[in-house]
Amino acid sequence: MRLQGSKILVTGCAGFIGSHMVDALLAKGCEVVGVDNLSAGKREFMERALATGRFQFHQTDLLSGRLKEHLGGVDVVFHFAANPDVRQGPNNTRVHMEQNIEATYLVLEAMRAASVRSICFPSTSTVYGEPGQIPTEEGYGPLIPISIYGASKLACEALICSYAHTFDMDAAIYRFANVVGSRSTHNVVHDFIRKLREEPNRLEILGAAPGTNKSYVHVSDCTKAMMIGAERAQEQVAIYNIGSLDRLNVQGIADIVVKEMGLPDVRYDWTGGVKGGRGWVGDVKEMLLDIKKLQAIGWNPMMGSEAAMRQAVREILAAGKAH
Ligand SMILES: NC(=O)c1ccc[n+]([C@@H]2O[C@H](COP(=O)([O-])OP(=O)(O)OC[C@H]3O[C@@H](n4cnc5c(N)ncnc54)[C@H](O)[C@@H]3O)[C@@H](O)[C@H]2O)c1
Repeated sequence: MRLQGSKILVTGCAGFIGSHMVDALLAKGCEVVGVDNLSAGKREFMERALATGRFQFHQTDLLSGRLKEHLGGVDVVFHFAANPDVRQGPNNTRVHMEQNIEATYLVLEAMRAASVRSICFPSTSTVYGEPGQIPTEEGYGPLIPISIYGASKLACEALICSYAHTFDMDAAIYRFANVVGSRSTHNVVHDFIRKLREEPNRLEILGAAPGTNKSYVHVSDCTKAMMIGAERAQEQVAIYNIGSLDRLNVQGIADIVVKEMGLPDVRYDWTGGVKGGRGWVGDVKEMLLDIKKLQAIGWNPMMGSEAAMRQAVREILAAGKAH
């Protein structure tokens, strides 16, 4: 898949990872068209992109079925728009069906109608469920997601594979570990910072000590991995894990947030969690991805989980001070 000099459409371009991808593609010399309904995304995340003069933004809801209007001359679609919140699944079983599965179907249909042949899709480590092999390779199976979010992203992967083979498209599918960095708006770091601002001596933590143990990757490493994976793909549908080489537990995250906020004396109150100490229903307890496939084609994460988390906490705290 060729990116340099191409015209690329990014859905979810005002969101956390999508907005960083837009910046990375513009830095590579691409012309970029962005689509977002601004349900979670923010205009301010696109300021840098809009200033280049090579980025066009359309406020469009994918479920309106109007994406085709923006696909003229587009070579590649990066489809980030989704509802990424695992926690919503048990309370609202429809949201991931519509925002993830149906939206992806409509993206593929619009691409088919406009003869756009290449798609890059951010999937998730949650498609593996609770695998018997850690680190988990891309070829691991069977895939048994334990969250409705994970199931919806696996359904999207399947749709993309079937469209690629039926309509002669090519695809890069990326299974992300937890991605952290500036412009994120909903994750454990935000939860901890908000709670500590309200109560600087005590932190309520969902789950049982020391919490889930997962891999974190910085968004700057993630966007580089996506571009290398797309450009150097050897298969019609290339599936890649993106993560770091190590993991961090929730206690480690709390320690980083407390230290970076300069709080001297914080007591951790663990809630005990649900279903054997998970933070919430559908929360996977152990996650580390095997990233040898991307390493073999020239990508390596610059940061491990702890460094990525520390960097992200600093970026989020600095952005909070700026507003
Ligand atoms: N953040 C992570 O750690 C992580 C991990 C694995 C996979 N992912 C995937 O990466 C992608 C981006 O995640 P994120 O964390 O940046 O989320 P985000 O919520 O910040 O970004 C999603 C963007 O999509 C937009 N959007 C949602 N529904 C839309 C619709 N119907 N039409 C148009 N726009 C719509 C939102 O306004 C938002 O700007 C998602 O597909 C998510 O599933 C994220």
